Amino acid sequence: MLHTDAWWRDAVIYQVYPRSFADSDGDGMGDLPGITGRLPHLRELGVDAVWLSPFYPSPQHDAGYDVADYRGVDRRFGELGDADKLIAEAHGLGLKVIVDLVPNHTSEEHAWFRAALAAAPGSPERERYIFRDGRGVSGAEPPNSWQSVFGGSAWERAPDGQWYLHLFDVSQPDLNWGNPEVRAEFLDILRFWLGRGVDGFRVDVAHGLVKEENLADWTQSSQILGGLDPAGPPPPMWDQEGVHEIYQSWRRVLDEYPGGRVLVAEAWVAPASRLARYVRPDEMHQAFNFPYLEAPWQPAALRAVIDESLEANNAVGATTTWVLSNHDVVRHATRLGYPVGTPRMHGIGAEDPQPDTALGLRRARAATLLMLALPGSAYLYQGEELGLPEHTTMADQFREDPAWERSGHAERGRDGCRVPLPWEADAPSYGFGPTDASWLPQPATWAEYALDRQQGVAGSTWELYHSALGLRREHRLGHGSLTWQDATEGTLAFRNGDVLVLTNFGPEPVELPAGARLRLSSEPLDGDGRVPTDVTVWASF
Ligand code: GLC
Repeated sequence: MLHTDAWWRDAVIYQVYPRSFADSDGDGMGDLPGITGRLPHLRELGVDAVWLSPFYPSPQHDAGYDVADYRGVDRRFGELGDADKLIAEAHGLGLKVIVDLVPNHTSEEHAWFRAALAAAPGSPERERYIFRDGRGVSGAEPPNSWQSVFGGSAWERAPDGQWYLHLFDVSQPDLNWGNPEVRAEFLDILRFWLGRGVDGFRVDVAHGLVKEENLADWTQSSQILGGLDPAGPPPPMWDQEGVHEIYQSWRRVLDEYPGGRVLVAEAWVAPASRLARYVRPDEMHQAFNFPYLEAPWQPAALRAVIDESLEANNAVGATTTWVLSNHDVVRHATRLGYPVGTPRMHGIGAEDPQPDTALGLRRARAATLLMLALPGSAYLYQGEELGLPEHTTMADQFREDPAWERSGHAERGRDGCRVPLPWEADAPSYGFGPTDASWLPQPATWAEYALDRQQGVAGSTWELYHSALGLRREHRLGHGSLTWQDATEGTLAFRNGDVLVLTNFGPEPVELPAGARLRLSSEPLDGDGRVPTDVTVWASF
């Protein structure tokens, strides 16, 4: 393989959430022309690739992760020609483009599901999904005890009395991957987008496609993330052995195309050795490292997860990825503003305990600088380069995440990390679009985070990311390897090539090793040239 084909091994990949990145037409919803117009900004920031969350035709019951047509563009986001333009423009700027593929379920508005509902039980149309008769008197009970990830039963009754499985929202019926027609269709969808020039696919719920054959009851939570005992048997809906042959068949298709096209698994699977099975040489190229995202701000825990991740991926020859934020989790600038050890939050509302914003940002900057020095590939989520926090006081009336209703309001859901970006402090909608419209309200305090308040401003979070990405490239940190250094208690220190990375988690400032020349620091050093609490530095000799 040519070296350039392995671009992804050390790539920094920036997640664009199309609804909230940039709105070109002022309707309050981001769109593809908006993204295309802002691509030079991403080039300037210094990332290698963009991953776009879904922009396909969809009723948007799960913000586009409910796809009605895999070969088009939702009119809210533009048209197919706009996707072509975006890809061409990105390539012209030297940016790769990864699109989101949602194979576990379709939208209820997909032609296949409409046909399935219209057809009889046992028909080929129903065989594309997971329809079953119910239990109990006249089949009035769901076929098994599975719960939806968003809360409530994972089964919904069709008008004629049969039930269909939906691990997510009721509007997201699960496909039957035991059906060859489903497999053939997705190979064709891959080719459709590969032919349009995309550089890869982020595969949604990659660990969920195959269900245990007899659909046995499962009384534990169906939570997609966390809460599962890694030592126990895999739940019957996740991480079944059968998923791997699907990705092997996809890989064969990708390998027919030039330039290094990639598959990235969104698989909430633990431990790391189990996750690494998705990135064996004949399967996917990368998998998101969620154990890293979930690790507490604590040196021993971080060191352990870094070691475990590198070891598991090295064992299969894969590159390790790192990530701190995405569209499904509380932004790390907010998460880290809570006491260390706070359990994972499923959204935050005005009545919930509020974060220490300054502490969160300080730790987020240190966490990012630590992450960007690690060998492998890193994923950034739009807005983190601005130090953007979660919207933690959004009025509940604006919430759109299906988890909010389905959980009976137990979970506020993910809207707080999906708020449209601030580009210009003094413009309507902070420059998100040409009008005040914004599909989720932007906090009144966001002017200070706007890009135009940060570019060229020494010490701003944008400048920190910009410098870090430049140095990372210059020192080839993504291609490097990590050697831990002896360090004072409460700190982590490692060498990656000629760069020394040190993070101080402890209460006291620490000295830099003798002869170390500071290259970058997440906050200024103290008056004595020492590294203060919650600060990461990069140094060389
Ligand atoms: C993935 C997506 C999430 C979506 C879910 C169902 O976890 O990241 O946003 O709700 O799959 O498609």
